[in-house]
Amino acid sequence: MTQTLSRQEQHQAQHKKYVLSSWVAQGALNAPVVTRGEGRFFFDEDGNKYLDLSSGLVSTNLGHGHPRVVKAIQDQAATLCYSPTGYFQDKRAELGEAMIKLTPWSEGGRAFFTTGGAEANDDAVRIARAITGRFKILASYRSYHGSTGTAMQLTGEDRRFGNEPALAPGIVHFFAPYPYRSPFYTQDPHEETARALEHLERTLMHENPRNVAAILLEPIVGSNGVIIYPEGYLEGVRRICTQHGILLIFDEVMTGFWRTGKSFAAHTLGVTPDMMVFAKGVTSAYIPLGGVLIREGLAQYFDIKALPVGHTYAGHPLCCAAGLGAIAAYQEDGIEQHVAQLEGWLRTGLKELENRYKTLGEARGIGAFWALEFVKDKDTREPLVAWHGDGPGIMKNFFLELRKRGVFSFGKFNIAMVTPPLNTTRDELDHGLEALDAACKAIDAAV
Ligand SMILES: Cc1ncc(COP(=O)(O)O)c(C=O)c1O
Repeated sequence: MTQTLSRQEQHQAQHKKYVLSSWVAQGALNAPVVTRGEGRFFFDEDGNKYLDLSSGLVSTNLGHGHPRVVKAIQDQAATLCYSPTGYFQDKRAELGEAMIKLTPWSEGGRAFFTTGGAEANDDAVRIARAITGRFKILASYRSYHGSTGTAMQLTGEDRRFGNEPALAPGIVHFFAPYPYRSPFYTQDPHEETARALEHLERTLMHENPRNVAAILLEPIVGSNGVIIYPEGYLEGVRRICTQHGILLIFDEVMTGFWRTGKSFAAHTLGVTPDMMVFAKGVTSAYIPLGGVLIREGLAQYFDIKALPVGHTYAGHPLCCAAGLGAIAAYQEDGIEQHVAQLEGWLRTGLKELENRYKTLGEARGIGAFWALEFVKDKDTREPLVAWHGDGPGIMKNFFLELRKRGVFSFGKFNIAMVTPPLNTTRDELDHGLEALDAACKAIDAAV
């Protein structure tokens, strides 16, 4: 007797047959089919409800279906869906101003729009090279910057491995601080800062600082474990950049749009870069949009010289309208105040888990940007599954335990991200924390 497949099963089979999914071997894929989102939840085709505890890929900062953003998209769709990039456009102009108002630059600045974070990092590098007339770019290990040519080469982790040899020359990696797992053999944050800065200066000396156009960093490392640099490090990098005429570029693709408490991590951390790259939260990920922000003193270079970058969709009206809707929503909904509360709930809840479970080495974060790092042993800090090892191993069960309890998050090797939408309520977060508790318990029991 032939069994009829449910609608979800039909779509699963269709997806497996016709679609390739990012970054993974396709054979073992077995995922629900997501068909609807509302608030902090999304639903699969069988009607199962999932709390989105990671804001998708740290991107749906306003949760799903925020009416302010949806309306902005609908209105724009009914008015103008495309305009050529060589003509000015109302929403592009308005979003440019709105974005620059979120930056720390008193001198002002200008925005160049792309459709995502990777493309924006590629363009930031080309813009920095044009302005400085220098070629080399320094980026850190344990960073992720996207999967286009230059962004992939900027990336300091395993997602680059499948794309080597490098297609983008002139990129040099260095080690940045990682207090929990110091590459500089220290246990003291001040020493970590001092040694990391010395290492950076030494790297520059051997690369010739006069050839270096920019240092490009995530101001807080994102998908590689929410690593918050120790006090003084980013200030030191800023000082070194200024000293050598090197541009400091912050990749704020994950850290932007109130994820760390303020509009950008540059504000949260009090360090001012020369350029900033954004994407994801700018539209709460409802429509693809990214871009590069350039402080005015540098942007003026292109008043005479041609900008060396461009895209058919640069500053697309639908994307810009969505960006304007999202920025209005962040501000009208008091997201900055809510993230301050959310940070307190997350810190208390996740630190309790850290104290309770032997395999949870460290829960760390800021704002609504948190990660759990799992270990075999809290004293040795040996990762629960090897970084750059053969796969997720036991961590796969962690995410399956969450899924069983109607909670979604994602992670990498021995890291699980906890980055809820910035408007998550106390009750919703408690539901997420209960599921995390159960998943940690399952991992502890299996080790
Ligand atoms: C810090 C950072 N930069 C760049 C990117 C790439 O952005 P996109 O996937 O939009 O190309 C990501 C994506 O996760 C990111 O986390």
